[in-house]
Amino acid sequence: MSFLDLVLKKRNGEKLMPEEIDFLVEKYVAGEIPDYQMSAFLMAVYFNSMDGEETVKLTEAMADSGDRLDLSGVEGFKVDKHSSGGVGDSVSLVLVPLVGAVGLKIGKLSGRGLGHTGGTIDKLESIPGFRVSLSTQEFLTGMESDGMAIMEHTSDLVPADQKLYELRDVTGTVESLPLIVSSIMSKKIACGPDGVVLDIKSGAGAIMKEFDRAKELAQGCVDIGKEVGLNVTALITDMNQPLGRAVGNSLEVREAIKVLKDETSGDLREVTVNLVAELLLQSEKVDSMEEGVNQAEDKLASGLALEKFKRLIENQGGNPEVIEDPNLLPTGENRAEIQLEEEGYVSKLDALKIGRAANTLGAGRQEKGEEIDRAVGIEIEKKIGDELTASEPVARIHYNDDSNLEEAKRLIRDAFSISPSPSSAPELIKERIR
Ligand code: URA
Repeated sequence: MSFLDLVLKKRNGEKLMPEEIDFLVEKYVAGEIPDYQMSAFLMAVYFNSMDGEETVKLTEAMADSGDRLDLSGVEGFKVDKHSSGGVGDSVSLVLVPLVGAVGLKIGKLSGRGLGHTGGTIDKLESIPGFRVSLSTQEFLTGMESDGMAIMEHTSDLVPADQKLYELRDVTGTVESLPLIVSSIMSKKIACGPDGVVLDIKSGAGAIMKEFDRAKELAQGCVDIGKEVGLNVTALITDMNQPLGRAVGNSLEVREAIKVLKDETSGDLREVTVNLVAELLLQSEKVDSMEEGVNQAEDKLASGLALEKFKRLIENQGGNPEVIEDPNLLPTGENRAEIQLEEEGYVSKLDALKIGRAANTLGAGRQEKGEEIDRAVGIEIEKKIGDELTASEPVARIHYNDDSNLEEAKRLIRDAFSISPSPSSAPELIKERIR
């Protein structure tokens, strides 16, 4: 079999056989297919797609490209969560301890920021001492003893995704349905949970900007789950505007702590609570979403979720005092307020522009492996539907280095549209696919 034949086949819109998909994944992971040829193949998939059978096969081949986690020694209902990526998306920071608090078990593998979207691992590393590289044994021990552990993806698990994702990122082939579905689901399958909840974002700051495309992605992932016997629920949630009111690594940790302290309500809390309720429903610990939401809310109100977060930090070598004193987190030296000199109501707040502004300040990488500044970011003062008077700021920049400050300010100003009449916030949870 020659890889060039497979590139030509896909370029001509033909269907690949299962053994051909196994071949391309194995050979690419083994370093026997050069990136330039794989890039051509990915572009052919981008334009000609893959059908359901090809996508299932690609997902399985990727899941089998490395080790699989064996969770059989961990008692209880084991769950996992994945987001398709967004701006201000600190859901995992709240969700992991909350899952521990409601009595489910979660072992979460997370990634770093990518493009304009942040990554849970970069955020957690703002906590002094927090270790994101764990041995498999440490990971399993965290799950067994406290119901939760979180670590960076290792190359032992799904190496095919690591290699393919990096290549997709630089070849304009990220936004391909079969490639996203196989990327997400291969990682979930390799981690061996009993149930999975997916947070598929839709809107300006999401990979899938249009609702219909987000729905196709959500349905594609749920269908793969069905094929391989994994319980998967997907929520399609809004990413037209950033989630929460903080964008940037340590600022998002501060916001997550506020939610865990039961000090704030809002969209970040609502999405997280709903995702946890879906997991409770899958585990049959509750009979309805309402019961699941109530249980999750109770654990935030009682302080148990916060207690779990403290345990998670301690288990992974971090300084738990950040909970009582968030000033122990990296803090930017300077602040700049953004005012629009306009009055009215916020009608648009473009999540993509805010994500780019945060990256411009140094919160994300322009190149792979680059050092980032965990202290910098943006506090959002006004969200869609909020009233604005001319003297009020719409956002506050936290920065250290002012070399890109003007560019960040311009992006933030551009992100806001103001209208004279009130507009309602976009629907937060647009659809559930079970
Ligand atoms: N998240 C993933 O894990 N993979 C993708 O391809 C897109 C989002």
